[in-house]
Amino acid sequence: MSHVQILDVEKSFQGRQVLKRINLQVEKGEFVTLLGPSGCGKTTLLRIIAGLERSDGGKVFVGGKKIVEGLNRKEQTIGMVFQSYALFPNLTAYENIAFGLKINKLPPLQIRQQVEEIMTILSITGKEKNYPHQMSGGQQQRVALARALVTKPDLLLLDEPLSAVDAKVRESARSLIRDIQKKMGITTIFVTHDQLEALVMSDRIVILDSGEIMQQGKPAEIYNKPANRFVANFIGSYNFIPGSLLGLPDKEVEVCIRPEHIKIVKKDYLAPEEVDSSFQLQGKLNNLYILGNTIRAEILVQGQTLLVDRLNGLQGSDFLLNEEVKLLLDKSALNILG
Ligand SMILES: Nc1ncnc2c1ncn2[C@@H]1O[C@H](COP(=O)(O)OP(=O)(O)O)[C@@H](O)[C@H]1O
Ligand SMILES: [Mg+2]
Repeated sequence: MSHVQILDVEKSFQGRQVLKRINLQVEKGEFVTLLGPSGCGKTTLLRIIAGLERSDGGKVFVGGKKIVEGLNRKEQTIGMVFQSYALFPNLTAYENIAFGLKINKLPPLQIRQQVEEIMTILSITGKEKNYPHQMSGGQQQRVALARALVTKPDLLLLDEPLSAVDAKVRESARSLIRDIQKKMGITTIFVTHDQLEALVMSDRIVILDSGEIMQQGKPAEIYNKPANRFVANFIGSYNFIPGSLLGLPDKEVEVCIRPEHIKIVKKDYLAPEEVDSSFQLQGKLNNLYILGNTIRAEILVQGQTLLVDRLNGLQGSDFLLNEEVKLLLDKSALNILG
């Protein structure tokens, strides 16, 4: 049986349905990310799993035990980290982390041992006596994580825990969370609206929109084979091209291709190797800009702008603005959306 079972969970607020019959299973030790735009129901679902919110219909089981809202069963060990960390401002880092263990009335020696152990794992030793306001955002976030992990929960729920820290800290925090999660083998449900975070961290991504699961799969599946237009739009960039532009017979067909799967070549380049493997289009280079490690070109093709990315090498661009160019669209990278 799956470690977490979410069966037909529904929830409305003031007559408006925010979760529509959610069915989801999470395996023991798995890292699953709920990804979706703000307001799609991620926090509500996480709160229902934690027993902090009542669902209108359906059931949730964790480790075979039914979650009942408001019932804080002792054997039900779920750790949670919120977006705001929610550290107690009047307690030191040490006291914050020890809080749950004290509530559970563990012997003082064991509390000390467990707090020290988790502080070492999270590299925050030395901060024991600091109050939250005396720590950086990244340190507070690690204290919040330590507080959730110190009770050795068998389910960890993380609600956008990295959204309040700056970009550099966020990057290292991602790998830290993933490393610890793997080391402890702890089943984790992670919530984010950040697609990159989801892609780099997850065993499996579950995409939500307006309270419904749009697709779930491994990061590579989600990225390479989006199930519908919503997912295609939400993850990375896509060019949506009417089938007629490519000479595909059915006019209703819409194909999509990622900017990195289109190649720009000189207008009169014959492309002998790609003649069978690519669709070829003529266009005009309208714009060129640097995205960081990639360079993005905007090419105007029969009134439509297509995006083309390539790695930002040192040699710069071989193409000039307004130049007529040829595009090679890798046929194997085309997705046809239903
Ligand atoms: N306690 C509440 N009362 C009324 N509406 C709520 C409440 N909590 C959440 N909502 C609404 O439910 C929807 C989903 O919210 P939420 O689960 O917080 O989304 P997310 O975490 O994906 O941003 C939103 O439209 C939000 O305004
Ligand atoms: Mg939320």
